[in-house]
Amino acid sequence: MEGIRERKARPVSEHEQPPEDNVPSQHARAQTGWPVSRLLYTLVLLLSTVLYLFWKTNPGALIRLIEPWYDLSEQLPGVSSPEYAFLGADEVRRDAVVDAFKHAWFAYERDAMGDDEYHPLSHKGSNLTDAGGIGYTVVDSLDTMIIMGLDEEYRRARSWVDTKLTFEVDGIFNVFETTIRVLGGLLSAYHLTHDSLYIDRAKDLADRLMVAFSTPSGLPVAMVNLGTRTPIPDTGNQNLVSTAEVATLQLELRYLTELTDDDSYWRAAEKVMQVIRKAVPVPPLAAIYMDPQQGTFVTSPIRLGSRGDSYYEYLLKQYLQTGRVETGYREMYDGAMDAIHEHLVQRTPHTNFLYTAELMPERTQTHQMQWRLVPKQDHLVCFLGGSLMLGATDGGHFSVPPRAEEFVGTARRDWTTGYELIKTCMETHRTHTGLSPEIAHFRTKNDPQAIADLAPNDWYIKGSRQPTAALDARYILRPETVESLFIAFRLTGDSRYRDWGWQIFQSIEKHCKVPTGGYAGVTNVDIVPPELEDKMETFMMSETLKYLYLLFSDSSILPLTENVFNTEAHPFPIIRPTGRTAFT
Ligand SMILES: *[C@@H]1O[C@H](CO)[C@@H](O)[C@H](O)[C@H]1NC(C)=O
Repeated sequence: MEGIRERKARPVSEHEQPPEDNVPSQHARAQTGWPVSRLLYTLVLLLSTVLYLFWKTNPGALIRLIEPWYDLSEQLPGVSSPEYAFLGADEVRRDAVVDAFKHAWFAYERDAMGDDEYHPLSHKGSNLTDAGGIGYTVVDSLDTMIIMGLDEEYRRARSWVDTKLTFEVDGIFNVFETTIRVLGGLLSAYHLTHDSLYIDRAKDLADRLMVAFSTPSGLPVAMVNLGTRTPIPDTGNQNLVSTAEVATLQLELRYLTELTDDDSYWRAAEKVMQVIRKAVPVPPLAAIYMDPQQGTFVTSPIRLGSRGDSYYEYLLKQYLQTGRVETGYREMYDGAMDAIHEHLVQRTPHTNFLYTAELMPERTQTHQMQWRLVPKQDHLVCFLGGSLMLGATDGGHFSVPPRAEEFVGTARRDWTTGYELIKTCMETHRTHTGLSPEIAHFRTKNDPQAIADLAPNDWYIKGSRQPTAALDARYILRPETVESLFIAFRLTGDSRYRDWGWQIFQSIEKHCKVPTGGYAGVTNVDIVPPELEDKMETFMMSETLKYLYLLFSDSSILPLTENVFNTEAHPFPIIRPTGRTAFT
């Protein structure tokens, strides 16, 4: 002990004695260099004034100026320590999430067991159609109970599926929503239990949905009557289909083919991808509407939010689901990410936050088509942060945390954008409730507000100060930010993502929890106490609470290298290559 103390003490005392020969030379310099130091002083003063004025008028540019230089010495963005990753559970926070799930589930089971949707303020359930429910909430919640180890709750839910669930319902259902929530929920329940009940139900449902694909192009129509097995075009939308809706059925149908050895599901899903690959323009940015007669894109907005989002998600995940062998999907994904970086990724002028804008088609007075950039981002886009990081690490196949040298090509760009986007999504949680709005608008350089206001927020919620708040100001229990935090944590083992997720969870507990049971969305994230909406979306139990639970769980649970999560957070296994590779 004493030896150590001595050794430590010595350099300090050496330091305290000023080297003798330096003293005179310093004096000499001070005497002869007086005009030089005055010149220097003036220069420094001038430079700081210029920098200060520059900062005042355009701080974003200054940050951008020093960032690449700063980056040289910095390791990978979003990783605190290149050596250290903690992958164990945070039991206290994890168990708090389980309590939240029980609070949600018990209220639903008490008031509305079996109904499609739950209204926690009026303590009632409702169905999507008058003809009866199809297990929207029960089936969507099954795998969360299995993952959380809630055996009693799960047993009762399984029994409901076994004895009550029927798809013989003479009502009209959305093909995409039914696929990701109900078919996806059944398939992941099978994946986690190997209980054949779920394959039987999944096959029955899929067989009813398959009529949607009977269009000239093979793109499925938006809706189906499950009882009569009739395709129902979306007449309200000129019979068009959403890009995200037709391109977010593939993980589910491919897994079902794997389980049943019936090629028809996989073929129908794959046909959609072939049609899209042929129709996609250069640069490969997909408009949000397609024509199922022609199999072409129609002039419509380009965005990563609603009706666009999960198209991009499933490009990457189809490549991951098929064991990273079918590179055709990866090529489409990489092309789309290049185009997104070139045309949609933007920075805010003051704080340099990264976001993705939307492109709106417009006719000029001379009837020319042109695209207008709209600086707004849906909360839905927050999935993209984690998705980009997942793609950058080839599905989590890098070290944890990744090492800088593992990134080749555009991977480092995607990783950095992904992390920056997560930061922006966290920034949009800086509201009075700590919850993020449905849609965030961003300031641009030319925005008069941004120029006038020198210490501004770089983003705002449209209409949040009006008495009847716009739909933009809502938070409806959406999962996309915590989904990205879960992926980022799994890839890095960095505690910042858990801390951010915990902040969000606490805001949900504080503002969305209904004392009598269940959780409700809020109508305006900037009003405290918020006004609650009488609805608990099914993705609260299937996604938001599942991703939070997994964020705080041991990383060996459902590893990303062995599972792929569908867009409703239902995990499926990675499929070994089977020779079913018509696409590539
Ligand atoms: C929903 O549908 C189920 C099954 O058809 C039925 O038992 C239930 O009463 C319906 N719920 C409501 C609120 O109408």
